[in-house]
Amino acid sequence: MNSKAIITSALPYANGEIHLGHVASTYLPADVTTRFLKLNGVEAYYVCASDDFGTPILIQSEKENKTPSEYVAYWNKRDYDDFTAFNIGFDYFYKTSSQENIEFVQYVFKKLNDAGHLYQKEIIQFYCNNDKKFLPDRYVKGICPYCQAEDQYSDLCESCGRVPEEIKDPKCSICGQTPTKEKTIHYFFKLKNFGDSLTKWLEGNEHLQKDVKKYVQNWIKSGLIDWDITRDITWGVPIPADDAQDKVFYGWFDNHLAYISTALKFLNDKGIDGKDFWNSADIYHFIGKDIVYHHYLFLPAMRLGMNNEYKLPDYIPTRGHLTLQGKKISKSRNWYIGLKQFLNYYPADYLRYYLVVINPYSQDDLNFDWDEFANHINSELIGNLGNFVNRALGFTKKTFDGIIPESEKYDEKDQEAHDKIINLSTEIGILMKENHLDRALKKIMEFSSFFNQYFQHKEPWKKGPGTENCVFLSVNAARSLAIAMFPFIPESSQKIWVQLGLEGKVTDNSWDDMSQLGIKLGHSLGETSPLFAKVEQEDIEKYKKRLGPQ
Ligand code: MF3
Ligand code: ZN
Repeated sequence: MNSKAIITSALPYANGEIHLGHVASTYLPADVTTRFLKLNGVEAYYVCASDDFGTPILIQSEKENKTPSEYVAYWNKRDYDDFTAFNIGFDYFYKTSSQENIEFVQYVFKKLNDAGHLYQKEIIQFYCNNDKKFLPDRYVKGICPYCQAEDQYSDLCESCGRVPEEIKDPKCSICGQTPTKEKTIHYFFKLKNFGDSLTKWLEGNEHLQKDVKKYVQNWIKSGLIDWDITRDITWGVPIPADDAQDKVFYGWFDNHLAYISTALKFLNDKGIDGKDFWNSADIYHFIGKDIVYHHYLFLPAMRLGMNNEYKLPDYIPTRGHLTLQGKKISKSRNWYIGLKQFLNYYPADYLRYYLVVINPYSQDDLNFDWDEFANHINSELIGNLGNFVNRALGFTKKTFDGIIPESEKYDEKDQEAHDKIINLSTEIGILMKENHLDRALKKIMEFSSFFNQYFQHKEPWKKGPGTENCVFLSVNAARSLAIAMFPFIPESSQKIWVQLGLEGKVTDNSWDDMSQLGIKLGHSLGETSPLFAKVEQEDIEKYKKRLGPQ
């Protein structure tokens, strides 16, 4: 394992609240992974930023009679607060509109330009005579030229995932009229020239998911197109060229560069050489499958174009989208659950548990279902984990005054239980390193379930021979669970830790400490209480009704 890592997750647009769809595919898996790496002693930093530029944000701020900077400042803070309430532990949360990012983007532009990777070209741009605006990207809708899907934005087809060269049957998405065409001069990035070097990079990187790699390679084979990196609007990173004063960079030129500029800002402020750190660390970019094109082609090509001055990603964990009660999430149809709203209903750990356990390391979509949520929490988090910890600790309190007794010679069952503890960190660690967070979590729950059965089998309440062993091993298993569960449910893990009467924090330990028998004879437990409260059916029914048209 590399001793350094930088983790990022797709930067949230600063134009709306974070909802369950966002956290399921990127922020939560990235947070769990970061916590895992840190427990392993990796110097890991999780950085993120709000994605502040672009046409939609400009227009929305105008609608709300705010300056774009005021508008994005509001969402930057609000998003950060919501993430924090969900225990997404960013080491640093910044913004793409920071001075550091602006300067970095301009530096990258010059470097790419000097290396001959950019050119200027007169293009015809959609213009709406009704709105008196150039209409880039999201402001034109039409038919995808590749897959013929209707009602697609001109900058990304959500049906086939490709970026159309020119959308068919264009309509202004503000007023619905057919736009006219006007001439304007734009900068282009020669993505076409990077086919071979991208193929080489893709082939050489064995951490990338095979299925994603495959379809990206097919895109390359069917021909890449150069990227227009300029926009005729006023909100964006200014282009450092005399002939482009009234233009700014396209949001997808500057936003991913904030992965680097934010990491540099954070590291340099800490007194660490940021560039050196970046280039010697493992780089992770967590994303949802809708932005594969940008992260597997455009982003690496730009870094290649800079002669790898900043290294390319080692991992791009890519996950599917979340549906809600089987239907596509849609804010306008009120078919979504805001993160803040959810956290008014249930503790962060309930959602963290559920959204990891149903979330495979793949492109498959996953579904949030209220009934399944209740089932998972009630039968697994409460019925299995909570029950075991409560039973083991409660029994020790009642029968031994909370003082750990001396163990005797193990019988076969004790030996099996002992070995489970010894092997836990390696077994789970392998899955975590491979990004199979869901499988790792299920394995930990199997461990808990094993100990429930072990406790039941040993019948310590009969106070026969072996009672001491049962208490000793069960309390130690609860300690192992506190460490193993920490990346997933950090608050509850810390609660178990305190109930065990252990000092300090779970994070004072290392991942491998879960496979030690760290609780010894004579140790005294803390106060015990139930870790979780049942998810009630009547509440669930209430929350279901809040979805959809009101
Ligand atoms: N804001 C973009 C989105 O939500 C993602 C930006 S990721 C970055 O789709 F790479 F560009 F930073
Ligand atoms: Zn398409």
